[in-house]
Formats: sequence, C-alpha cells, structure tokens
Amino acid sequence: MTIAIMGAMREEIEPILENVGEYQTHEYAGNVFYTCSYAEHNLVIAYSKIGKVFSAITATVMIERFGAQKLLFSGVAGGISDELAIGDLIMATQLCQHDVDITAFGHPDGFIPEGTLMAPTDDEMRSLAGEIAIDMGVELYEGIIATGDQFVASLERKNWIAKTFNADALEMEGASVACVCQNFGIPCFVLRAISDTANGGAVEDFDAFLKTSAQVSARFVLEMVKRIED
Ligand code: ADE
Repeated sequence: MTIAIMGAMREEIEPILENVGEYQTHEYAGNVFYTCSYAEHNLVIAYSKIGKVFSAITATVMIERFGAQKLLFSGVAGGISDELAIGDLIMATQLCQHDVDITAFGHPDGFIPEGTLMAPTDDEMRSLAGEIAIDMGVELYEGIIATGDQFVASLERKNWIAKTFNADALEMEGASVACVCQNFGIPCFVLRAISDTANGGAVEDFDAFLKTSAQVSARFVLEMVKRIED
C-alpha cells in the first residue's frame, strides 16, 4: 500500500526520514517529496510548510500524484484540555477550522456551506492507534482538534476556541488535510504531541519543545505504519 506521512515543519518530518533508511527525493508543486519502501509499504513523506493552504496542496499532491491510499499526519499542537501536558499525544477524532467566519450570513462559526463543520478521521486507524498505545505503554488522548491560520498564544482566543468547538487541542494544518482526505475518500489519521498550551507562554514553550514533541509523534506514527495491513 502507498501511505503518506506528512508534517508541517521540517522538524516534524526529520525524525521520520532518519528512521526509514534510503529514500528518493522528488520536487513538485513547490515542495519536496521523499519516497521509500518501509515495512512492506511504499511511503511518500513531506512537510508542507505551515498553515491550511500549504498543507492542503501537499496532501492533494500526495494523493493525486503519488497515489497515497492512506494519509497520516504527525506533528505538534497547542494543548487546550487541562488533561494535556507538554509531550502528551492526542489523535483527532474530528477536526474543524476555527478561523472560518461567515457568521454575518447566519452560519455557525467554522461552517462553510456545502461543507461539513467537522472533517472526520478514520475509525480503523484510530482503533489501531489505541492498540499500539497500549502495547507501547504510552497514554494516547483523543478529541477534537481545531485548526486555523493563527499561532494561538492568548488565553482569550484559546478559551473561545475551546468553548465554540469543544476542542481539546489546536494547530494550523490538521483540518485542511482532513478536508482534502474527506473529499478524495482517503482514510486520514492526525496525531499531535503537545508543544505548548496556547497561552501567554506559548512562543517560548513551542521553541523549547517543538523538537522533542515532534519526535514523540513521529515515533508513534512509524509504529502505526508497521502495523497497517494491506
Ligand atoms: N502548533 C503548536 N502550538 C500551536 C499554537 N499555540 N497555535 C497554533 N498552532 C500550534
């Protein structure tokens, strides 16, 4: 099977590339894609650059040009839920776009007509992740992840997102990737390790924990790939 693994930043993908052995490099649509064989699968790996637009382009290319049949996103997020500490893992049950606002026309926050408020993730991959977490002895949270083209570093914005979308974590790419997968009919899995808690100290925490949290997520996603059956 051809499986896509994507992140947003180089730091999110480096720990994957360091562990897959030899790979080939392809330039396309303003980005670099890495392909290799791993655990009896063909992998296509890339980081998109930050945000919803670049991540949607990368996910689309992985599906349309590289033939990805499943897509796994690995990276970091700002924690909303009090249960989530820095370094903890959360997989998205579903994802929304917290910065979509056409409420002036009577639509709910985050909703685009003819779209869905929440983009789903794949039940099978989430249940596999649950088994892997037990086997690895790691705690794996699940919940709603809210995505937007904003680095959130304020309690006020974080609390608004929490209340409006019942979200447990936030980041800048998951919902756009899940939306691409939803529209192409490709199973999607979004995993994030917490790098900060989206409050006044978020910038400092993000800089301090990006690398280590990205490694936690990458390690788990590689374990997922090993256990995905054709
Ligand atoms: N990714 C990690 N932390 C984040 C934050 N505070 N805001 C947006 N995206 C993030």
